[in-house]
Amino acid sequence: LAACGGDSSSSDDKKSSDEYTADKPLVIKFSHVTAQDSVKGKAADYFAQLVDEKTEGKVKVEVYPASQLYGDADELDALVSGNVHMIAPSVTKMVKLDPRWQYVDMPYLFESEEHVQKFFDSELAQKLFNSDQLAANDIKGMAFWPNGFKHFSNNKHPLVKPEDFKGLKFRTQAGQVLEAQFEALGAGSATIAFGETYAALQQGTVDGAENPFNNFDTMKFYEVQKYLSTTQHGRLDYAIFVNKSFWESMPEDLRAKVEEALAEATKYAQDLAAEENQKSFEKIKSLGTVEVYEMTDEERAALKEALQPVYDKFEDVITKELIDGIKALAE
Ligand code: LMR
Repeated sequence: LAACGGDSSSSDDKKSSDEYTADKPLVIKFSHVTAQDSVKGKAADYFAQLVDEKTEGKVKVEVYPASQLYGDADELDALVSGNVHMIAPSVTKMVKLDPRWQYVDMPYLFESEEHVQKFFDSELAQKLFNSDQLAANDIKGMAFWPNGFKHFSNNKHPLVKPEDFKGLKFRTQAGQVLEAQFEALGAGSATIAFGETYAALQQGTVDGAENPFNNFDTMKFYEVQKYLSTTQHGRLDYAIFVNKSFWESMPEDLRAKVEEALAEATKYAQDLAAEENQKSFEKIKSLGTVEVYEMTDEERAALKEALQPVYDKFEDVITKELIDGIKALAE
């Protein structure tokens, strides 16, 4: 409730950065769902370290990895309500607010890491950040971080041809595009929180999943999946979001330093992602517990064709502007 009276030091006034010290820092709670040693975990920790250095401890980023504080189901709500200040969800999970974020799930839309980076740097990506839906929920989009291409895995048999997917059940992150992807392949799906996926695979609630190599590795999915094919059929990437009111309440000088740290951490994440995914791929192959099938271009093309119905169904939802705009960036 707003206070009345003419007190010029009302609580609405911004605090000055002098009020914060290394002993009494301004705390930014940053929650995410992957392991601490994942691409996102490492980039988040590096961001926290940079903020500490740049603000001389006046701002402390408390990173809560591995769904410790909030999982898939509640991290966005926690950001909207200000219980957490910063999150870095896989953008698919923003479908709750704006279905266009499912651009990332459109099969074989992105051709390379460079293509993805061009999109991150594009006006199209900025448009997603400038949406009414984010503003209405007091959320500000800050940066894009890559993870990598997703690959299908399962426990029944190698997945090479479209017909190999028939009758299997897969875990999805969120949204109807991923559901439609499996439908197009004659498979079923269930939305399961990332933190519960290992158990779901272990108990046979679902037969398979789709992950970048690094998530497959750092979540130890290799313990509960027998077959992995390098299908490279979709992306898993992140965006960093802050609670807008919280962000705007920060003293400007400190906010500028946090912004600087985020720009550096973003560059770090961009350099790290492909490298960590490659390392994880080598590790998965060397374990001997997962049969890895390396897909040919022809085999990928057959999957791409089988997944065309996803475009027919979702072009209007994702918007032609976004889909065609992303395709044009490949050239
Ligand atoms: C997933 O649920 O598979 C991903 O969102 C996990 C992540 O954040 O990388």
